[in-house]
Amino acid sequence: MTPVALPPGFRRLPLAARQAALAAAVGGELPAALCGDAETSALADLLVENAVGAFPLPLGLATGFRVDGEELIVPLATEEASVVAAASYAARLLGGADGAGIRTAADPPIATVQLFLEQTRPDAEAAVAAAEAEIAALVDGAVATLAARGGGFRGLSAARRGAALKVEIDLDVRDAMGANKVNTAGEAARPLLERLTGGRLLMAIVTNASRRALVRAAAQTPCARLARAGYSGAEVAQRMVRAAAVAAADHDRAVTHNKGVLNGIAALAQATGNDTRAVEAAAHGWAAAGGGYAPLTRYHVAGGALHCRLECPLPLGTVGGAVGLHPVSRLALRILGNPDSRRLAAIAAAVGLAQNFAALRALVTEGIQHGHMRLHAERLAFIAGARGAEVAAVAAALAAGGPMDLPAAVRLLQAQRGAAAP
Ligand code: MEV
Repeated sequence: MTPVALPPGFRRLPLAARQAALAAAVGGELPAALCGDAETSALADLLVENAVGAFPLPLGLATGFRVDGEELIVPLATEEASVVAAASYAARLLGGADGAGIRTAADPPIATVQLFLEQTRPDAEAAVAAAEAEIAALVDGAVATLAARGGGFRGLSAARRGAALKVEIDLDVRDAMGANKVNTAGEAARPLLERLTGGRLLMAIVTNASRRALVRAAAQTPCARLARAGYSGAEVAQRMVRAAAVAAADHDRAVTHNKGVLNGIAALAQATGNDTRAVEAAAHGWAAAGGGYAPLTRYHVAGGALHCRLECPLPLGTVGGAVGLHPVSRLALRILGNPDSRRLAAIAAAVGLAQNFAALRALVTEGIQHGHMRLHAERLAFIAGARGAEVAAVAAALAAGGPMDLPAAVRLLQAQRGAAAP
């Protein structure tokens, strides 16, 4: 089969005509899920170029969360099975005897723009430092609505980076994720910085490292509650501590360990319309901040309890970008009680910690394939055409023995329907 070709002028067509052109190019009808409702289509057309519709992702609700004493239902958008169930399961275990559940602390919402200037004078760093008040006033003027809401300039620094001079300007971006605001501030500061340094700007852009928007989450659970798969609770707790230590000692394991953390964080970021790539870049950057690549979570046993904690930067917003535009992200924020940006980041850290906790506990006890085989069987049943109650019935028959493949699923579905027919 050859890849599709689009007609000339495709990008100038209205959305409905683009869909018709795509349908003709693939020689069939487009999936109903792609075309969606009028609002989703209009939004897709607004948000991206050459839009042909929307890609729906499952949205699940993780239950059982108590974060800083507040009970929460957490909306998670993800295509990965087990994420919602694992988060809910771990959230209950981490409920906390004191009623606080997972405790969090979030730094203020600081985002940073980096400006790289070339051919600057030798005294450029000092000149920038001496002009801090002037730069602050300029930046606050460029983001006046942000400054009026209590945000704006929070500091600057200058340092040599190879042949370039790097100037970093920090802004409190309040409830925005911040990239737009700090990019505006950076471009506004350009002429003054070129004059002060005698240099020319190479580029100005937010840094996704987001080091100054750190969030921490911590929780504990009595070891006795962790017993599973023939291991005592104390054994499971020690095995989880050793699993986390392995991640600290082995780069490739740390990458997978952190991927598990991000399963929860990225799913919440996605559900709330945030930039998931920015969040993941910040987390991986933080993991690599010490020069190697470290796990984002830490575990230890003390006083008969397993203690776990997470620290990483989380640049999440509750206004701006797609967050306020998308009806589903507005719903997701409503489910969470319309948190401000740092509360959302704190909840995300709690979800990431719970996700990692669930993954480690499963890995050091029965392993994760155990649960995944049931899901694999359900997917095969779905692909074979099973719907509703048929999915579980065919999956159970597949799991009972024999080959775990599509022909077997089709056979079992036919048998099931034959048996159900009058
Ligand atoms: C799978 O999406 C995530 C895990 O691999 C995480 C981990 O290994 O810690 C289970």
